[in-house]
Amino acid sequence: MTMMTSLYGSLVPFLLLTALTIADVSESRRSFQETVSKSGGDYGNGTGTRWAVLVAGSSGYQNFRHQADVCHAYQILKANGLKDENIIVFIYDDIANHQNNPTKGIIVNKPNGPNVYKGVLKDYTGDEITAANLYAVLLGNKTALNGGSGKVLNSGPNDHVFFYYSDHGTTGVMTMPAGDYIYADDFVNVLRQMYKAKKYKNMVIYIEACEAGSILQGLLPRDLGIYATTASNAEENSWAYYCPTGPPGSVPIGGDPAKYGTCLGDLYSIAWMEDSEANDLGKETLQEQYLKVKDRTNLSHVMQYGDTILSKAFVSTYMGQRSENVSTIPLEELSTSNSQAVPQRDADLVFFQHQVQKAPKDTAESVEAQKRLDEQIAHRSHVDRSISQIVNHLFGDFNVTSMLTAVRPNDQPVVDDWDCLKTFVRTYQQYCGRLREYGMQYTRAMVNMCNAGVDKDSMKAASIQACYGKVE
Ligand SMILES: *[C@@H]1O[C@H](CO)[C@@H](O)[C@H](O)[C@H]1NC(C)=O
Ligand SMILES: *[C@@H]1O[C@H](CO)[C@@H](O)[C@H](O)[C@H]1NC(C)=O
Ligand SMILES: *[C@@H]1O[C@H](CO)[C@@H](O)[C@H](O)[C@H]1NC(C)=O
Ligand SMILES: *[C@@H]1O[C@H](CO)[C@@H](O)[C@H](O)[C@H]1NC(C)=O
Ligand SMILES: *[C@@H]1O[C@H](CO)[C@@H](O)[C@H](O)[C@H]1NC(C)=O
Repeated sequence: MTMMTSLYGSLVPFLLLTALTIADVSESRRSFQETVSKSGGDYGNGTGTRWAVLVAGSSGYQNFRHQADVCHAYQILKANGLKDENIIVFIYDDIANHQNNPTKGIIVNKPNGPNVYKGVLKDYTGDEITAANLYAVLLGNKTALNGGSGKVLNSGPNDHVFFYYSDHGTTGVMTMPAGDYIYADDFVNVLRQMYKAKKYKNMVIYIEACEAGSILQGLLPRDLGIYATTASNAEENSWAYYCPTGPPGSVPIGGDPAKYGTCLGDLYSIAWMEDSEANDLGKETLQEQYLKVKDRTNLSHVMQYGDTILSKAFVSTYMGQRSENVSTIPLEELSTSNSQAVPQRDADLVFFQHQVQKAPKDTAESVEAQKRLDEQIAHRSHVDRSISQIVNHLFGDFNVTSMLTAVRPNDQPVVDDWDCLKTFVRTYQQYCGRLREYGMQYTRAMVNMCNAGVDKDSMKAASIQACYGKVE
């Protein structure tokens, strides 16, 4: 809110609207739209072609939900009239026919939901899902591609581009199943190049990930014609949703989540998608959608970045619109569905625990399931221990907690020297093994060590000292 005030202090009606609670949205809609039409601009609500890039950044059945989210997003855009030639989908594609999937060939994104896998595009699958391929797609550079369908964003200056990513993230990073991670500085540099190359009139970005705000905070300029929202701010996790069990102590729920044994969706993602399906997108603005998504995503802070004035455009500008009449479903009805939310980084444990519970006692299957769960837990302690040893080694008696938890003010990039962060992550993984979903959170410690001026050689020495000979 502080940031918005400084950016748009003069746009009083706009600010008033952002301050309104969800209950007031429909009442205020008319006056808001009057403000919009009086202000003259079309906020990107013009002609041109609608393009979309959809990215599921994970693999593995324990991460079922990210691919389900992306399949679901594809179905919405398709039903809303976007053409396959204008949609590019990154999906590892190991879920639909996974041995753990009780409905082979079918993926659902909510309990009793429809099959969102049907007809989904698969432009980049498996190990073709790399940061490098994503950048090539966004820049429309076919020669830089490695594998895949070869489809790239062939958009031009009148076009509208929608980008949606769902997966694990961490401070300054979005993960990818293969190759390097997506680092925030590289991602925003690609956006700058897209702007220079006139690859869009305006662009909308939705990101589901832990610490998703750290991808754009202090980095995405207001003058690129890009408006973004994220599932979480720069310092908190986002939430898996429609899970078979919630936090420790909560009662397991039945139905589809239990049947699948894994979380079926993510809270922010299903919030924008179910909202998009329940409303006439030709009448709902991005700002209205943001407010509703923010209201439903009440376990983390949904954030806005970039040129927030673009949120005055109708959602249909980017996501299209169904031809038949949409019967509006009230928010209360969407919210009451039976579900459990789990922090993004603990959702894999839900799956491994569920496997243990499900296996018949004293069978090879149950021994195997227990072994996999133990391995996950052991890996977590390994990462906890090695990171705290590294910090101790580098800082001696210095307050380790502050190195693990310190965060910058929310108008600044999380790190100054991005090469330092990349080197630290690479160095750690070289000597201590991959961070994986849970360990990813420790890029915050690496960010803080970079900001504290730790040099690369010291980081290497500390990693060797903490892990040498202790990793397979
Ligand atoms: C978007 O364009 C349509 C058709 O030109 C127009 O009716 C509508 O008022 C515009 N909306 C905004 C928010 O500019
Ligand atoms: C496309 O990628 C290739 C290979 O990475 C590079 O050499 C070339 O300069 C890029 N083209 C543009 C227009 O950026
Ligand atoms: C979040 O919203 C859900 C659904 O409306 C509600 O059941 C839950 O109590 C809320 N949680 C918090 C922490 O406000
Ligand atoms: C949609 O609703 C409008 C107004 O209620 C009605 O005039 C129109 O015939 C409907 N169109 C379809 C395809 O049902
Ligand atoms: C260590 O840092 C944390 C977080 O910054 C702070 O809450 C705590 O008081 C500090 N402890 C000491 C002993 O300085």
